[in-house]
Amino acid sequence: CGIVGYIGNQDSKEILLKGLEKLEYRGYDSAGIAVRGNEQIRVFKEKGRIADLRAIVDESVSANTGIGHTRWATHGVPSQTNAHPHQSASGRFTLVHNGVIENYSILKREYLQGTEFISETDTEVIVQMIEKFANEGMETEEAFRQTLTLLKGSYALALLDEQAADMIFVAKNKSPLLVGVGADFNVVASDAMAMLQVTNQYVELMDKEMVFVTKEQVTIKTLEGTVVERKPYTAELDASDIEKGTYPHYMLKETDEQPLVIRKIIQKYQDEQGNLAIDQEIVDAVNGSDRIYIVACGTSYHAGLVGKQLIEKMAGIPVEVHVASEFGYNLPLLPEKPLFIFISQSGETADSRAVLVAVKELGHKALTITNVPGSTLSREADYTLLLHAGPEIAVASTKAYTAQIAVLSILADVVAKTRGRADNLNLVKELGIVANAMEVLCDSKEEMDYIAREYLSFTRNCFFIGRGMDFYVGLEGALKLKEISYIQAEGFAGGELKHGTIALIEEGTPVIALATQENVNLSIRGNVKEVAARGANPCIISMKGLDMEEDRFVIPAVHELLTPLVSVVPMQLIAYYAALHRDCDVDKPRNLAKSVTVE
Ligand code: G6P
Repeated sequence: CGIVGYIGNQDSKEILLKGLEKLEYRGYDSAGIAVRGNEQIRVFKEKGRIADLRAIVDESVSANTGIGHTRWATHGVPSQTNAHPHQSASGRFTLVHNGVIENYSILKREYLQGTEFISETDTEVIVQMIEKFANEGMETEEAFRQTLTLLKGSYALALLDEQAADMIFVAKNKSPLLVGVGADFNVVASDAMAMLQVTNQYVELMDKEMVFVTKEQVTIKTLEGTVVERKPYTAELDASDIEKGTYPHYMLKETDEQPLVIRKIIQKYQDEQGNLAIDQEIVDAVNGSDRIYIVACGTSYHAGLVGKQLIEKMAGIPVEVHVASEFGYNLPLLPEKPLFIFISQSGETADSRAVLVAVKELGHKALTITNVPGSTLSREADYTLLLHAGPEIAVASTKAYTAQIAVLSILADVVAKTRGRADNLNLVKELGIVANAMEVLCDSKEEMDYIAREYLSFTRNCFFIGRGMDFYVGLEGALKLKEISYIQAEGFAGGELKHGTIALIEEGTPVIALATQENVNLSIRGNVKEVAARGANPCIISMKGLDMEEDRFVIPAVHELLTPLVSVVPMQLIAYYAALHRDCDVDKPRNLAKSVTVE
């Protein structure tokens, strides 16, 4: 699920392949490029990895223009045929597309009776329609525009026309896409990271805009044909941020970066006097709301669950947490002044964006907490809080999760202080203690490796249990393990197990129990006894001060409200080593994408 394009004087094949490699982190199951060489457009595509694609690209083709794509299957299985680029019947037009065209079967019926389709994708409908309109006598620009006006759904598109050698036709609606500007070339990319190798100057594109990219010029037009002037911005990314360095995997590097990220967040959210500070507008919006709705997906949703506890306990404002894909069509009865908080590492998740669009239409205010400045969710919300975690490349999220919780704690604290609450909490100091504790945990890799080996090397399944904050971290621990090691893992509230799930406990079933909460320390230990009595192999991870003899690992003590920031680190590392022992591709787990831009 990524797009690249290049038009200039250099060999486009290598630039496109390198760009696609940089997009690998987003997750994909096939890839392809189309390059224009010797007046002809040549398409190379393959199921599997970029390395597989690289192996079939004809080195002898010299081409200065091209488009490329990584595909995460939605319509049609991952296969060479369904991989992009797709071509029109005559081969004149070649297209790559991210997103989902919702009305593709209607368009097919209405406009393309008699056209023979090669793939099962919605994308092929777009390219065939462009050709149909061109065959009826339209110029390419008009055929492109006409087709775009008929599409319903999301798209980021790049098109080559065999008869227009010097241009890439580009368009976007709801799916992310940027145009990069160079001295004697221009590029197209789903994110700046993909093309950072050639330029750090990018032009933002808005929904329902078309762009005509030549090597000298970038012309943006609305679908109505009005030319839009927009200056490029400098992508504040350091190329070294997106390299693995000496680490074997991005996930390990990003796990290790967590103490640094926490310290950076403290610094970024401090005012000149060293007090934690948040834009007054945001504080007012939170204070002005009678209920907060946190909306997110995956790991960000798990951070939201912790966020609810922080905001409710510290600031005293009621919070609901919802999975975005459910919330969109299942809106609860809203109070008079709701505030929506969207948590999204990428800021591009389509499920979350759909909710944002819906609540904005209802006239409500929204705050996005994201790692990516300028991302769609950031641009479209009223307010943004940044995570400052640096690019997160591994599909399994680590540092973004802890950064999200840290930022939520700061928001809760700043708001709490304006309400005369949480006076005795020195959050700067407590987050500093968290960063130090994280460092200790990152140094305990060998121990985590042992635990993974001992408990998870041969198991089919694994349970994570906890109460309160520990339950939420258990959910995240289970998700990490599922995502990268493919072990069936579930997180449960300790007390709930006996109401059903305990039936799954067999001789040797690993149960990872978290015990970092004083008020439930004894009860979670009671739940451990219940499963152990039925044959489970429990692994208790507790916090210093609450630890007991039977515990397998003890994490350094931190403030009770901030325990998820540290207790999650062993979960991340255990999942990492479990995946390694099972020979899984840690950074690129099967079937998953980092940034899911389809609903
Ligand atoms: C994808 C990723 C998950 C991530 C979720 C939400 O499914 O695989 O790791 O948690 O999207 O992503 P976001 O960028 O919105 O936080």
